[in-house]
Amino acid sequence: MTDFDPFTDMVDSPMYVVTAEAAGERAGCLVGFGSQCSIRPARFVVWLSRVNHTYRVAEHAERLTVHLLHRDQGRLARLFGGETGDRTDKFTDVPWHPGPGGSVILDEAPTWFVGRVESRIDGGDHVGFLLAPEAAETLGGAPAPPMSLSDARGITPGHPVN
Ligand SMILES: Cc1cc2nc3c(=O)[nH]c(=O)nc-3n(C[C@H](O)[C@H](O)[C@H](O)COP(=O)(O)O)c2cc1C
Repeated sequence: MTDFDPFTDMVDSPMYVVTAEAAGERAGCLVGFGSQCSIRPARFVVWLSRVNHTYRVAEHAERLTVHLLHRDQGRLARLFGGETGDRTDKFTDVPWHPGPGGSVILDEAPTWFVGRVESRIDGGDHVGFLLAPEAAETLGGAPAPPMSLSDARGITPGHPVN
């Protein structure tokens, strides 16, 4: 518990799955630390923990895919947030296809964008990946409302914090 917790406890951020590919290796994890940070030019930052397998692949990736999760996608959230690529190949359990520039797109996620990594920002135990969107898609139909942190709180992070 810190003095900051009363503030962060009130924040119910949307949940994303961020995927990366580098040198033929794929990775992806559940992310709550993410936000648009510029309108013109359009820019978005996702923050990856230095300990995660996804961070180590993303360090060498030219692009990341950010998938917005919807409330009915608990299975994807548990797989990408509760397992680590250090022990499990998450991509044998979910259908995916290659996207622009070697990006990795999850077939089950209807809402996503691919961003080119413009820079990396030291944020402490997380590193910010500043993304310039290159392609985006929201498939038709009426998806469930976005998943938020309060929907995912029961998931124990698959990668130990230290
Ligand atoms: C609710 C929730 C939010 C999370 N938010 C982030 C985040 O913003 N950034 C991050 O790097 N990891 C975050 N994680 C942790 C990773 O998703 C988790 O440790 C995952 O197993 C890492 O997988 P990897 O080692 O394959 O990258 C979050 C986990 C949960 C359950």
